[in-house]
Amino acid sequence: MNAEELAKKRANYLSFLKKQPKGFLYLDEKQKPVAAKHAAKNADERAKNADEIDALNCNYRDCTACPLGSQGRTQVVFGKGLAEATLMFVGEGPGKDEDLQGAPFVGRSGKLLTQIIEAMGLSRESVYISNVVKCRPPENRTPLPNESSTCKDLLLLKEIAIIKPKIICTLGATATKALLGDETKITASRGMFVEWNGTLVLPTYHPAYLLRNPAEKRTVWEDMKKIMAKLAELEA
Ligand code: SF4
Ligand code: URA
Repeated sequence: MNAEELAKKRANYLSFLKKQPKGFLYLDEKQKPVAAKHAAKNADERAKNADEIDALNCNYRDCTACPLGSQGRTQVVFGKGLAEATLMFVGEGPGKDEDLQGAPFVGRSGKLLTQIIEAMGLSRESVYISNVVKCRPPENRTPLPNESSTCKDLLLLKEIAIIKPKIICTLGATATKALLGDETKITASRGMFVEWNGTLVLPTYHPAYLLRNPAEKRTVWEDMKKIMAKLAELEA
């Protein structure tokens, strides 16, 4: 084996090791059943989170608790993704495409959000994506404060309590205000972690804003790098 082959083999082996669960290197025969039990418990917990999200959403399929329930929505658009995600994105509310397809962030803003998530080395399936209000506001207007607060209490806060993400990235002013308070300005809070109920919240610009102001994509990318570094730190 020449030096190049050896280096390649070493790199492959290191990458294999990195993919293994914590403690992999140290498992002896006695520890293996303990690790297997731990993995099984995690699988059970995963199923439990997904079931809890389904059970929660099930109660709100025909929700009319706020005015958006009777202003022309096609369907209630629930959050989507991994029910035990460590990273969660929260947007404002469904637009036309989301209202028709029944999934969050699937239109133009959604495509950009997907690109951002993939540039972070993640996938939409490995994070959780939700909105403050689950029904499309007419003409895509900003949700009114009573709509935001009603839907937040009925769904968003409960989703967060089930998923327990380590980091929540709020996209734009509506999501940032919904979690951090009405007086929070997106321009002042953007790019900084705030501790909120035991979770770190990092506000950034909404992808729709980036479509209008492409130069700010760079700013958002700096924010995403902060999230990646923090996730690595929290998972170390
Ligand atoms: Fe219910 Fe939320 Fe839809 Fe309002 S926006 S009707 S609270 S699901
Ligand atoms: N904008 C949002 O805030 N949420 C979506 O789901 C789509 C666009």
